[in-house]
Amino acid sequence: MAENTLMNHQIVLNSRPNGTPTLNDFREKTSPLPMLASGQVLLRTLYLSLDPYMRGRMSDSASYAAPVGVGEVMIGAVVARVEASQHPGYKTGDLVLGNTGWQQYAVSDTSDLIRLDAALARPSLALGVLGMPGFTAYMGLLDIGQPKAGDTVVVAAASGAVGSVVGQIARIKGCRVVGVAGGAEKCRYVVNELGFDACIDHLSADFAQQLAAACSKGIDVYFESVGGAVFDAVLPLLNTGARIPLCGLISHYNDTALPAGPDRLSLLTRTLLIKRIKMQGFIIFDDYGHRYDEFFNQMSEWVAKGRIKFKEDIVEGLQNAPQAFIGLLEGKNFGKLLVRVTKD
Ligand SMILES: NC(=O)c1ccc[n+]([C@@H]2O[C@H](COP(=O)([O-])OP(=O)(O)OC[C@H]3O[C@@H](n4cnc5c(N)ncnc54)[C@H](OP(=O)(O)O)[C@@H]3O)[C@@H](O)[C@H]2O)c1
Repeated sequence: MAENTLMNHQIVLNSRPNGTPTLNDFREKTSPLPMLASGQVLLRTLYLSLDPYMRGRMSDSASYAAPVGVGEVMIGAVVARVEASQHPGYKTGDLVLGNTGWQQYAVSDTSDLIRLDAALARPSLALGVLGMPGFTAYMGLLDIGQPKAGDTVVVAAASGAVGSVVGQIARIKGCRVVGVAGGAEKCRYVVNELGFDACIDHLSADFAQQLAAACSKGIDVYFESVGGAVFDAVLPLLNTGARIPLCGLISHYNDTALPAGPDRLSLLTRTLLIKRIKMQGFIIFDDYGHRYDEFFNQMSEWVAKGRIKFKEDIVEGLQNAPQAFIGLLEGKNFGKLLVRVTKD
């Protein structure tokens, strides 16, 4: 294939992190774009989504998906415009959702593109509340959590992309909702803007006592995204018959070994047994891809009516993606983390 004169800026995986990723684990690369072949389109990235699962793809330990190769472009979902097309089904200006990763441009054979309404007022929502994180919240809470009116639902990472939606859906279903978030500002937002009944700061010294006081009737549903000290505080508060959608374990993503003892596995399994607790992991598109339309229709209605609110944390420029991603694993983001790669 002949080369184009247009240069592409990319961020590739430079090395596999040992523990917390550093800037050296990423590398900027500039290379010419190939000419389009028949059936291909040239995409210009508008927004890149930064998500916790990317930490898993930087490692080569066994997981549910293949790792990114060293030297390859970091993977990621994007919203992009078609800049040029050699495909009969696409024209310049079309708006799409794709998986072309951390780069300014991409050539696509269109096979994994999802078409978006070209006039969408806020296309970034397709990566947040109306996309994968919103879908994760919707299915994890409703299908695995099975919330009932009057239940106490506790939501980890409550100000984030998934947790913020989980708690708001639980409120719509008539539950009492207690969030867990890092810091007073995030907790204020969760209660005042998102309408949770309470939010406890997991960074405070008496976090476990505060959580117990906020859950005086115990916990019926715990939406787990974090693990570690937050789960330790939740475990003794779980009611008989509680449900735990196991969505993520972000406090462990940079671990290089099992946490130091004492070994609490028997405490966990005994609690699950005697309280008949259901704890179920899920991988959103693998397990629920067939229900995307149901989610999208319901969530679009809730967002349009203002029943589900959202917050975006937008970082300018692809070159700032590595630092922003490292910050995501430390709670530095406030809302759905996105990179504006090029202006629309
Ligand atoms: N199973 C699936 O299919 C699926 C799909 C999407 C996402 N997920 C998982 O869902 C979780 C949330 O993802 P998201 O995209 O919504 O991210 P997010 O909540 O927008 O951002 C991550 C948040 O995690 C919290 N955090 C980070 N380190 C922590 C620690 N050591 N202890 C406690 N909290 C910590 C931080 O919030 P605070 O500052 O409030 O602590 C941070 O802002 C992640 O675990 C992710 O892997 C799973």
